[in-house]
Amino acid sequence: MKRLVVVSNRVADPGCSQAAGGLAVCILDALRKRGGVWFGWNGEIVPDDADIDVSRVKFDELTLATMPLTERDYRDYYLGFANAALWPVHHYRLDLARFTQEATDGYRRVNDRFAEKLAPMLKSNDLVWVHDYHFIPLGAALRERGVSNRIGFFLHIPFPPPDVLCAMPEHEWLMSALVEYDLVGFQTKTDQANFLRFMCDFMQGEMLTPDLVRVGGKTVTASVFPVGIDVDSFAAMAESPSAAKRIERLHRAGEPRINVIGVDRLDYTKGLPDRLRSFKRLLEIYPQNCKAVTLMQIAPPTREDVQAYADIRHELEALSGEINGQFGDFDWTPVRYLHRRVDRDTLAALYRGSQVGLVTPLRDGMNLVAKEYVVAQDAENPGVLVLSRFAGAAEELQEALIVNPYDADEVANAMQRAIVMPLAERRQRHAALLARVRKHDSFNWMDGYLRALSACRMPLAA
Ligand code: ADP
Ligand code: G6P
Repeated sequence: MKRLVVVSNRVADPGCSQAAGGLAVCILDALRKRGGVWFGWNGEIVPDDADIDVSRVKFDELTLATMPLTERDYRDYYLGFANAALWPVHHYRLDLARFTQEATDGYRRVNDRFAEKLAPMLKSNDLVWVHDYHFIPLGAALRERGVSNRIGFFLHIPFPPPDVLCAMPEHEWLMSALVEYDLVGFQTKTDQANFLRFMCDFMQGEMLTPDLVRVGGKTVTASVFPVGIDVDSFAAMAESPSAAKRIERLHRAGEPRINVIGVDRLDYTKGLPDRLRSFKRLLEIYPQNCKAVTLMQIAPPTREDVQAYADIRHELEALSGEINGQFGDFDWTPVRYLHRRVDRDTLAALYRGSQVGLVTPLRDGMNLVAKEYVVAQDAENPGVLVLSRFAGAAEELQEALIVNPYDADEVANAMQRAIVMPLAERRQRHAALLARVRKHDSFNWMDGYLRALSACRMPLAA
């Protein structure tokens, strides 16, 4: 078996039981089993003049090779270009996108530095797999340094329609960098179609097969590989005796009967204010839920140095305060909002103890929380998933109650339907959803991708 070298900005710590971010969760699940090298940022920020070295730590078959970012890199590359330009554009939020020359330069600089450090570590047979929007030009930077290995790229976030992408000043450069990869993977057919449309309409690409496009003498395969989770180990967490104790505490006498749960990084793409407004509508339209239903929203901090993230936090805090002030009573708090990370086994228990899983992003690459919620349920008495049509997961998880997250009344009605849904229907929907989540688990995702990468055609002559 060829050695696998995975590259991503965020690298999970295998010794830590908390994770906030779908990329780290699915890569860790799959890579722990297969083994390989995981290269990326160690999460540290060092002064601009510090020496940058790669350090290595081994966890069984998995080696983490990581390095810090300088203060300037963190500001320009991570906050500036990756999270204030690419992230909003890819999530269709041009109103929040900020473009500056410093940020673009920082992005190029960090991609070059990562390529510089990685190239000498590679063996000729390694499969190289680059992840997400932080490293779009990394493949091209490796090619410039003479790396001729198979190199694949996977985009964890949405690929927007060409007209949206074009608002990004650097879009031509970024898109021509993608053509340097042998295989570009997407979460959904919509993302793949948007990419191919861009290649054909804006870069004079020519389709050779339904997923192979030739652009300027280069060929690239673009396919769909929906990410998943490690189903068995997450189910085991949800079924453990400690989970049962936690669920009992959640439902102890005097507490509301029905728990609705939301778990998301506090990101503006997750539609959290819209979700709270929908919950408010639930209490207004169906007042029988007052004192009976609680929304538990767990939203850990993320990217707080970007202004849009600070803004969304204030908005959410104001809204939850408003709802609790208007509807709450001495013995009932309608919205329980926790602004922190929690252990994965606690999360699993909370999902299992919640009758409704509310996953309503305004736009999302996949959304693993939706899959975790399904896996954590008790098949005999499962809860109901209410899922945004704008989450990548909605392409697969059709047996959820699919909603438009912008329409507060529609989401409120779906919540009510979930609360009163008969057991037989809940079981039926859950069984179908679980089968789909199992089909695309983290191992199949990695396996399928690597098989496709190994099978990619060698570049055609121009
Ligand atoms: P994203 O990648 O945009 O954050 P996903 O839903 O795909 O969205 O993945 C989020 C991951 O982070 C999930 O595995 C989820 O369990 C985890 N997560 C989210 N919030 C928390 C939290 N408060 N504590 C621990 N893990 C969290
Ligand atoms: C999303 C992105 C990942 C990122 C994660 C957490 O899942 O697709 O690339 O790692 O969010 O964000 P952070 O900025 O903390 O890495």
